[in-house]
Amino acid sequence: MALSLFCILSLWAVFTIDCYGLVDYNVFLGQNSRPLLLRFKKFGRGISTKEKGHFGSMTPSLINSPETVETLHGIYDLDFMAKDMIREFKVEYPYDVAAISLGMFFLAMFQLFTTSSNLGYFRVFLVLIMLWTSFPCYADKDIFILAGQSNMSGRGGVINGTWTGYIPPECSSNPSILRLSATLMWEVAREPLHKDIDIDATCGVGPGMAFANSVLESDSSLGVIGLVPCAIGGTSIVRWKRGLHLYDQLIKRSKAALEDGGTIRALLWYQGESDTKNEEDAELYGKRLEEFFISVRTDLSSPMLPIIQVALASSSGPYFEIVRKAQLAINLPNVTIVDANGLQLLIGDPIHLSTPGQVKLGKMMADAFLLSY
Ligand SMILES: *[C@@H]1O[C@H](CO)[C@@H](O)[C@H](O)[C@H]1NC(C)=O
Ligand SMILES: *[C@@H]1O[C@H](CO)[C@@H](O)[C@H](O)[C@H]1NC(C)=O
Ligand SMILES: *[C@@H]1O[C@H](CO)[C@@H](O)[C@H](O)[C@H]1NC(C)=O
Repeated sequence: MALSLFCILSLWAVFTIDCYGLVDYNVFLGQNSRPLLLRFKKFGRGISTKEKGHFGSMTPSLINSPETVETLHGIYDLDFMAKDMIREFKVEYPYDVAAISLGMFFLAMFQLFTTSSNLGYFRVFLVLIMLWTSFPCYADKDIFILAGQSNMSGRGGVINGTWTGYIPPECSSNPSILRLSATLMWEVAREPLHKDIDIDATCGVGPGMAFANSVLESDSSLGVIGLVPCAIGGTSIVRWKRGLHLYDQLIKRSKAALEDGGTIRALLWYQGESDTKNEEDAELYGKRLEEFFISVRTDLSSPMLPIIQVALASSSGPYFEIVRKAQLAINLPNVTIVDANGLQLLIGDPIHLSTPGQVKLGKMMADAFLLSY
């Protein structure tokens, strides 16, 4: 009895470690004199099943094997490094050690509990805990792409170039809301969502977390939400043209998000301020935006992909009216407009939404999504 329970618990521990990444990989790249240490932390089911297969069972004899090197190059885009520069590969906390120690811990817990008469409750409790902890990693995701410029990236709570760190309850983290990091790993999402994406700016609260929490609250059929942050501050629509870096990143990240299973449910888009400064850009905005939407749908093989677009309420540029009109006039199926009119802006930085403004926007986008799709 105790033995079988021990086995089950160990097995579960292996899955959960696989899920949450107690396993650290250290890879040393470079010549002996100047090693570069890359540290990968696994989270979720990882981005590549190839990675799981190879790395999960890594033994010292595999270090520097051509296969390992090949795998590393495949996963981490290391093609800029010569393959023979990988010097050492080390798994810091091997699976089995961690699994056995966790198993022992639970065995001890089990014995503790069985001395009392609450064994039945304990078993139920255990099963619930097991389900709860493993669920986010193995459930199919409802994926949302976040793109555009600073208001999507998030500047809520940024004062004089520093984020206050305040996270309102509507934006709190939750094991059922994951985000795809810059290194294409799933991790539990937390503000600021664009921290490692929009790296040239100080990021704060954006609409993403409020959106995800609100959607989850209202629609219990959704399991796990996967957010794919892609927004970069100060970007005009021409920079999102197909074939250019921002566009390619968006497609690359979206496809990587799908590798573990799941469905892209919508693109959330908040952009346009940078196109209000010049008359020609403003005049061409509608056409360029439409091209962008169509290209994204084509490249993600989702011709009806729902798009939730935020219409600018004001801007610093003189051609704001033209851009807003173009946003409202987009004539494509499954494009829903959410109006930023009336949302609170930051005091002292009135070109960005404040945290309360972002929370409200996130909820509005969630309502628009739930209503239309
Ligand atoms: C931000 O900077 C301005 C001027 O540099 C200063 O007047 C203001 O008090 C600062 N605000 C905060 C909250 O630190
Ligand atoms: C952010 O959104 C607000 C509200 O629509 C708008 O006034 C402002 O220009 C936007 N700022 C940027 C940088 O997009
Ligand atoms: C998109 O639009 C089409 C036609 O308007 C509709 O049938 C479909 O349900 C919409 N939503 C999705 C998710 O495709």
